[in-house]
Amino acid sequence: MLKATIILDGDFTIGPVDPRLFGGFAEHLGRHIYEGLYEPGHPQADAHGFRQDVIALVRELGMPVMRYPGGNFVSGYNWEDGIGPREQRPARLDLAWQTTEPNQFGVNEFNDWCRAVGTAPMLAVNLGTGGMAEARNLVEYCNHPGGTAWSDLRRRHGWPAPHAVKLWCLGNEMDGPWQIGHKTADEYGRLACETAKLMKWTDPSIEVVVCGSSGRGMATFGAWELDVLNHTFEHADYLSIHSYFGNAGNDTPAFLARPDEMGDFIAEVVACCDAAAARRRSAKRIMLSFDEWNVWYHSHTAEKPAPWSQAPHLLEDAYTMEDALCVGAMLITLLNHADRVRIACLAQVVNVIAPILTAAGGPAWRQTIFHPFALASAHGRGTVLQAQIRSPGYDTRDRQAVPYLKTAAVRQANGDLTLFALNRHLEQPLAVALDARALGKLRIAQWIELRHDDLKAVNTQAAPRAVRPVTRPIPARADSPAVAFRLRPASWNVITLSPGHG
Ligand code: AHR
Repeated sequence: MLKATIILDGDFTIGPVDPRLFGGFAEHLGRHIYEGLYEPGHPQADAHGFRQDVIALVRELGMPVMRYPGGNFVSGYNWEDGIGPREQRPARLDLAWQTTEPNQFGVNEFNDWCRAVGTAPMLAVNLGTGGMAEARNLVEYCNHPGGTAWSDLRRRHGWPAPHAVKLWCLGNEMDGPWQIGHKTADEYGRLACETAKLMKWTDPSIEVVVCGSSGRGMATFGAWELDVLNHTFEHADYLSIHSYFGNAGNDTPAFLARPDEMGDFIAEVVACCDAAAARRRSAKRIMLSFDEWNVWYHSHTAEKPAPWSQAPHLLEDAYTMEDALCVGAMLITLLNHADRVRIACLAQVVNVIAPILTAAGGPAWRQTIFHPFALASAHGRGTVLQAQIRSPGYDTRDRQAVPYLKTAAVRQANGDLTLFALNRHLEQPLAVALDARALGKLRIAQWIELRHDDLKAVNTQAAPRAVRPVTRPIPARADSPAVAFRLRPASWNVITLSPGHG
């Protein structure tokens, strides 16, 4: 029997979880907006054309912040195309995804949708084809109360109250040659600095995110961060990073080890941020916005839609059970870096590499990856403890001694302790002994498990509940100081321990 130990002490903490760690991302891409968030005429659509079935599922995910409108799309987007009377809005070629954008949904509709969901908007500005003037105009249009050209235009369009958007991304993945208006770190850094200045002068209450690397594998990674921060350190609040993992080679143990690499990435980027601070003898700490992360590879081999189609099926990955394990592991990594990762956005939310799929005119359903996200968002609010783990491990092509047990421990305000625990062994159970010294008397109160005999199982329109979490029986030795439980092979678990029992 494989055996592992978790040691926890309430005085050894990583830090409080910023609720924005459970953010999402909605891009004008494929069927995310059209047939996803917005489908006038759908039986579940409200007067705005917003699908209420989708809104209910997004609420279940518990996403306090939503990034919009891209992604690669934003780097060619003129936000003015998406405001004013719908019949006067132009259709445009979107060069990022080679589709036609009808502009029937824009910044005002997005803010209305956020209010309907109960999430906060995080808007990205175009620093590909766009510049600082368009960016500061958008801040004025959204956030200025009135009495100026842009704010009065918003009022005439039907939104008398400002949208009060607090979080702004200065471009998207500007280090990537695929990006419209790709730039060198110096070109981007200068532009981002001046843009941030004007945006903050327009509304001093906002926070801005500057682009870090679009992936750890980028040739410019590291140098990009230092150069960009050299230009933007005074104005930047967050640095963004992105990661996507896949299992195209069908090597599941290696795939499930990748979330540990996400932790390395975070540590390396934090080192860059703190190096930038050290050069200035500054106490300021740039925090991280991990504003795109997910599993993404199933759709890489999909047939391309006809060029310039409107809202085609794009990036519609059908997620498997093992993808849900990987997403659950990525969530554990994010929690264990809660001290520096303050914002994270699952990319994306509906239809496009998404936890939610919809049929046009039909239902919406939860993909496998919906479940770890919703559970982590519901049970992962509080303070993350430093979990000392002893676990047997395995080697992959790229990584040695990957522990079978991957865990994060979150202590909630009411004293409950939540353990998120993944057993990465595909065949063997893992016996875990929890030593929660100094945390007082604790007893397992609830155990939710996500697992399926078939790692390739997916949820479909016909079988939307094939993969879903189940409640497990409470084991016999459920009381501290000797809590013991057995994680089934390839399972992701949420174990809640409550004080004062036993
Ligand atoms: O999320 C899909 C795409 O991935 C985004 O548009 C881009 O920022 C990233 O490369």
